[in-house]
Amino acid sequence: MLAILAISGSLSRSSSNTALLRAASRIGREQTAIEVYERMAELPLFNVDLDIDPAPDAVTYFRARLSSSDGVLISSPEYAHGISGVLKNALDWTVSSGDFYEKPVAVFNASPRATLAQASLIEILKTMGARIVEEASIAVPLLGKHLDSDGIVADAAIANSVKAAVWALTHAIAAMKA
Ligand SMILES: Cc1cc2nc3c(=O)[nH]c(=O)nc-3n(C[C@H](O)[C@H](O)[C@H](O)COP(=O)(O)O)c2cc1C
Repeated sequence: MLAILAISGSLSRSSSNTALLRAASRIGREQTAIEVYERMAELPLFNVDLDIDPAPDAVTYFRARLSSSDGVLISSPEYAHGISGVLKNALDWTVSSGDFYEKPVAVFNASPRATLAQASLIEILKTMGARIVEEASIAVPLLGKHLDSDGIVADAAIANSVKAAVWALTHAIAAMKA
């Protein structure tokens, strides 16, 4: 079974982006193993002076989870027309390690109005050499719905679109490996 790492750009306990990724992990569990990365808050602020060998433990862990994944799923809120600082910080730690190079990535968007952050995230990922899987990148209208992962799984329309996206991501990964 393919291994996918899911990364949320929000640290909020009630995050819609994190709930979406947790729901994707449950909805897609028959097709693929989606691990939600839960240690984002442990990453230090990026500093080239710390980007040495050995890297800080939390950075080493993050890079190892990325490196052992066949693909990545990202969902981030838009803050002031950009991606969240915590997600940008995490991505900056992967520039020197090259963990996104040729990595298949699906970008979920839990708020369809957040188009600027979405475009910016795709540009950042492409700059690092990631392969954006367009057919697996979906906008899910969760803003203002206050759904947790149970609520997302129970919403047939949303769950179906998430299932189709996970299916598209796994098929794209399999095709790239072939
Ligand atoms: C500091 C801050 C800035 C925001 N800026 C934007 C923005 O520029 N555009 C937008 O569509 N939403 C903006 N929002 C709304 C968030 O994107 C929205 O609340 C999102 O659902 C938060 O994601 P989460 O539930 O995963 O934490 C902002 C929210 C905060 C707290």
